[in-house]
Amino acid sequence: MPPKNDRMKILGTGSALPKHTVTNDMLSDYVETSDEWITTRTGIKSRQIITTERFEDLAALAGQRAIDAAGLVPEDIDFIICHNVCNVYVTPSLASLVQGALGIKGPNCPTMDINSACAGFVYGLDICDAFLQTGRASHILYVCAEEVTRMVDWTQRETCVLFGDGAGALVLGKGDNYLASKLTSTPMPDVIYYRLPCEPTPFETGEGIDTHVSMQLKGREVFRMAVTSAQRDIRDVVSKAGLQLEDIDHYLLHQANLRIIDAIKQNFDLPQERFHTNIHKRGNTSSASIPILLDEIIREGKVKRGDLMVFNGFGAGFVTSAAVVRY
Ligand code: ACO
Repeated sequence: MPPKNDRMKILGTGSALPKHTVTNDMLSDYVETSDEWITTRTGIKSRQIITTERFEDLAALAGQRAIDAAGLVPEDIDFIICHNVCNVYVTPSLASLVQGALGIKGPNCPTMDINSACAGFVYGLDICDAFLQTGRASHILYVCAEEVTRMVDWTQRETCVLFGDGAGALVLGKGDNYLASKLTSTPMPDVIYYRLPCEPTPFETGEGIDTHVSMQLKGREVFRMAVTSAQRDIRDVVSKAGLQLEDIDHYLLHQANLRIIDAIKQNFDLPQERFHTNIHKRGNTSSASIPILLDEIIREGKVKRGDLMVFNGFGAGFVTSAAVVRY
């Protein structure tokens, strides 16, 4: 057994969503679709989409709420990690922008971004755990923020109806509550991808250099791989923690599609209400989906200190992740 307080504990959570809610019916003004098609195929009824907000402000607001929930002030934070797949700033990092927005002066609060697509939430937790274990940080602000609706082609109905924007944040400190994790990656870049153009140079030949391609996904393949990997990873990580599936109080899976979650939970003989969902009102917010859901169920009083949770994600790569955490 590792010594107590040698790993990680969730001290507080927060989330922030764009103010504009878009229903399925509203989407049919832009693409040929229907509430019936989207609801049946995905379980999504509405989602929040960025309009006039600045993305970094949304990320910072989620962070501030997590700091408040932890009973801390921004100056207590000594590391900021953001998970983000894409926003208008390639550099500086989103974590640096969040630091500025929260008024954390530095220089003793390093910042960095990571990107492991829709599976990224647990990837980031693992990094936070490592920094806390080695004593390199004592209070980490970890924000997953995504504006996926700006990665899709709004004339492609197969993709644009699936996503929403938002940010979820955690403040993590030393504790003994990170019980096990599992990360995997298998190179399959054609299953889900999004490509942006870089600046032209006088030296490029143009051969083999593709410019902009909006988000592309092989929906049925993703569906199959998500269900298969989730069943495997959840069983593996729970067993790695020395627990049984029925010991876990809450299962929080990446909110990509309600049918994926239904297919996964049908394979576990567990009370269905242990699998939490909010995809009907949030859409797929990529790496932010689990921390937003976590914050919502904590604030609704559904999770109490000591409860056991499993987080599980999958995404472009193809990457997968799972963790067992005691709240
Ligand atoms: N409205 C109406 N019709 C549509 C829409 C739409 N928004 N989108 C597609 N259709 C049509 C298609 O054109 C097709 O028509 P056709 O039969 O005349 O050719 C028909 O509906 C069926 O399309 P499929 O793509 O076969 O639909 P499917 O049942 O596979 O559902 C979906 C698509 C929802 C994407 C599903 O495959 C899925 O959930 N996949 C996994 C989730 C996923 O990929 N999420 C993306 C993010 S990745 C991640 O988070 C890790």
